[in-house]
Amino acid sequence: MTSVYLDHNATTQLDSRVLAAMLPWMQTQSGNPTSRHTFGRAAREAIERARSQVAQACGAYASQVIFTATGTEANNFAIKGMAANQVARQILTSAIEHPCVTRPALAMQALGYSSQPIAVNEQGKVDLAPLKNQLKTPTALLSVMLANNETGVVQDIAEIAKLARASGALMHTDAVQGLGKMALNFTDLNVHAMTVSSHKIHGPQGAAALILDKRVDIQPLLHGGGQERGLRSGTENVAAIVGFGLACELAASNLATYQAHTQALRAQFEQGLSAIKVSIFGNQVARLSNTSFFAVDNIEGETLVMALDRQGYAVASGSACSSDSTEPSQVLLAMGVNADVARGAVRVSFSAHNTAQQVADFLAVLNNEINRLKQMTAIAA
Ligand SMILES: Cc1ncc(COP(=O)(O)O)c(C=O)c1O
Repeated sequence: MTSVYLDHNATTQLDSRVLAAMLPWMQTQSGNPTSRHTFGRAAREAIERARSQVAQACGAYASQVIFTATGTEANNFAIKGMAANQVARQILTSAIEHPCVTRPALAMQALGYSSQPIAVNEQGKVDLAPLKNQLKTPTALLSVMLANNETGVVQDIAEIAKLARASGALMHTDAVQGLGKMALNFTDLNVHAMTVSSHKIHGPQGAAALILDKRVDIQPLLHGGGQERGLRSGTENVAAIVGFGLACELAASNLATYQAHTQALRAQFEQGLSAIKVSIFGNQVARLSNTSFFAVDNIEGETLVMALDRQGYAVASGSACSSDSTEPSQVLLAMGVNADVARGAVRVSFSAHNTAQQVADFLAVLNNEINRLKQMTAIAA
């Protein structure tokens, strides 16, 4: 049985060109970038080249790129580090953020901050009117993601950043799902800080970055030898950073082709879905071209995901499994979706590697599995 990977918002396969660029830094050229000898200087140069490549893909200056190990770390750094040096004590995060944004904001409550969610509408977009109201309270930091990992819905970040700046708040955006999937320009988004991560764009796991306006007074998460301008100590993961740099360059140069290809696959897929009774979330507003998030009536998303996996298709459910129950997607609940419908949610996320034939085959398998599960439910009822 062939296996087809349709879960690219979770992670992506390493591009073979990226692997080739990384290998020397794990084998023959293993210098510490802080060392003064030839090996060290070569590693330093490789990091600086990667910094320029990341900056270019993000519409930023190289001097604004701070490498971290993961997007999770960059988000924690932004939320905790930026709020720490502000006088205001309110942190606002949208109700659909990844937990690596909401949890550090909640953790700041122990230091006397209040953490408030920002509401989204039924399509998953931030409601500007209530946000304006919330910003009347002095706010240290506002964090709204550029594109949602479940629905793919894209926010009007520049507009939200304008409101944040007018109120005196710092503005952060988690652009982990945006990088490589849509045009990205740090300057145009008008934010103070932006998170990106390597493994979502066919780069290696273990490299990410916070793009930061240098005027922002931020506290480091990690103290030590002073790497990354003293803002993120720890010996750099040279190979992963080199891979991240090249993955950024490749993603940026292929963006138009990627978007056209994934948009066509998604259209074909959602056209096929229209024959089945499903709800597609966020499809009335701008979404990432590769993402489709839908729910089938009366079938648990988790059950469907496992059934599809047995047929060789890797997709994701919107729910999180805790020890004794399946929690519906928090993103869908924030969009006002009924909990029973939300429990049925399944996410398909394409990449340039997927083909129209795979989509056609997947639709046939999906149809079969849905019919089979419905029959089982009918028998059990
Ligand atoms: C929107 C978003 N933010 C942050 C992260 C975390 O990034 P990383 O896996 O690099 O820690 C993810 C990963 O799933 C994500 O989808």
